Amino acid sequence: MNTTPPEVASKLAEYHQEHLLQWWDTLSDEQQDSLVGQIESVDFEMIQKVWQESKNPPATAGSDVNRVDQAAAPKSVVLQPASAVEEAQWKQAAEVGAQRLADGKVAVITVAGGQGSRLGFAHPKGMFPIGPISSRSLFQVFAEQILARKRRHGGDLPWLIMTSAATHSETIEFFEQHDFWGLDRETVAFFQQGSMPAVDASSGRVLMSAADTLCLSPDGHGGLVMALKSSGLLDRMASEGVEDFFYHQVDNPTVIMCDPSLVGLHALNNSQLTTCVVKKLRPMERMGVLVDIGDHVEIIEYSELDEEQAAREDASGQWIFWAGNTAIHMFSLAFLEQLTSGGGQLALHVAEKAVDHIDAMGKLTEPSELNANKFERFIFDALPLATTALIVEGNREREFNPVKNAQGNDSPVTSREALSRIGREWLAAAGHTLQETVTVEISPLTALDADELVGSLADGSITVSSLIGPPAAS
Ligand code: UD1
Repeated sequence: MNTTPPEVASKLAEYHQEHLLQWWDTLSDEQQDSLVGQIESVDFEMIQKVWQESKNPPATAGSDVNRVDQAAAPKSVVLQPASAVEEAQWKQAAEVGAQRLADGKVAVITVAGGQGSRLGFAHPKGMFPIGPISSRSLFQVFAEQILARKRRHGGDLPWLIMTSAATHSETIEFFEQHDFWGLDRETVAFFQQGSMPAVDASSGRVLMSAADTLCLSPDGHGGLVMALKSSGLLDRMASEGVEDFFYHQVDNPTVIMCDPSLVGLHALNNSQLTTCVVKKLRPMERMGVLVDIGDHVEIIEYSELDEEQAAREDASGQWIFWAGNTAIHMFSLAFLEQLTSGGGQLALHVAEKAVDHIDAMGKLTEPSELNANKFERFIFDALPLATTALIVEGNREREFNPVKNAQGNDSPVTSREALSRIGREWLAAAGHTLQETVTVEISPLTALDADELVGSLADGSITVSSLIGPPAAS
């Protein structure tokens, strides 16, 4: 057994965190090493500062109240095409996007480090069986979209998947088990985001889940910036000629991966950060909203708005907070690089959570009330830092049907139904009108859009009956 390392002990004493070594003498050498590693990964000075500020927020300009009051609906949005001229503009953008894909200028980033606690699925969310008939997983849907895009446009289309300590090994194992669904594994990279400790909400002391383990959780999708840099992937992508990243969340199976229109609009506007928005369905829908604040674009999170604020209208009678963030973005590589050169550290947000931990006697406590603070960075805090940001309206029914909750809105039921509905719409375009009760599933490898499906049905390479079937058992 080792004695307490003096430098660790004095660092902890400086920040009143001595309790982390309370069980030191009972730990094996291995456990002691592991504990020291976890302690060394924590920036106690920063955590203490952010935590103290969250308890005494400065009540001046820049606070959330002011942000909400100053916010206006975004002035500049590329709306869905509503005229022949706009259709032509979108088509031209799609051609530019297709060329950029063919030239290998684009890579995909999937953020898959979250713990998915709302869904109540005990594995990484990307493993969730979403296919309405086949139960294919979210990861398989994305892999097949990437394969189909490569087949259609050419180009390498690297896929970078951000995991966390909570999801890393299981995610890689899952890809291995499925032989990467036919993707060349050299083109898929997994990189792990950082962690942040949970602290007791009333004392700021870091919580422990066992005598040798701190309560650590992923540092938010804003951890992407530094994780991309420190993994070497940002430099590797630059050396491979990638200029833009298509970014999406693991929870939305109807995302149009590398939608050529979005890729093209981003490039044509020399945008550093492009965001796809859709109209919120209800003022209190749990979506962040894009707004103009002063001369830049920002996101206000749903948690920052109360009912009255969320329903505010502007002079034209339109909701101010209409532009829901789909979390589908395009980033220019140069912009991400620029963010890393300032340390890459986007602001830390403090959230109140209920966190299981051991108490001073070493007994496991499972609080039913919010007892802890967690710290997260949000990738969209990069928005106001962009000198050229673009907002593009997406087609909500087609491309935003996420799986977030176990039941109700944004649940497996609504998301599977959306996949099936989209399939029925594509079949209707080919002249096969089906009843709403018919379950349809179209693999991205069969068709990426209605036109492709129409073609394949016409040339006989697929049949309608191969696309319909009994719903998967849920
Ligand atoms: C998020 C957005 C919200 C947007 C909505 C669209 C935030 C804070 N808000 O809300 O503006 O309208 O999606 O669906 O993100 N993730 C990580 N690492 C982490 C935390 C999350 O990779 O440390 C990933 C998750 O795996 C998931 C995504 O980020 O893919 C979203 O996280 P989640 O916390 O579920 O966001 P929402 O509250 O749904």
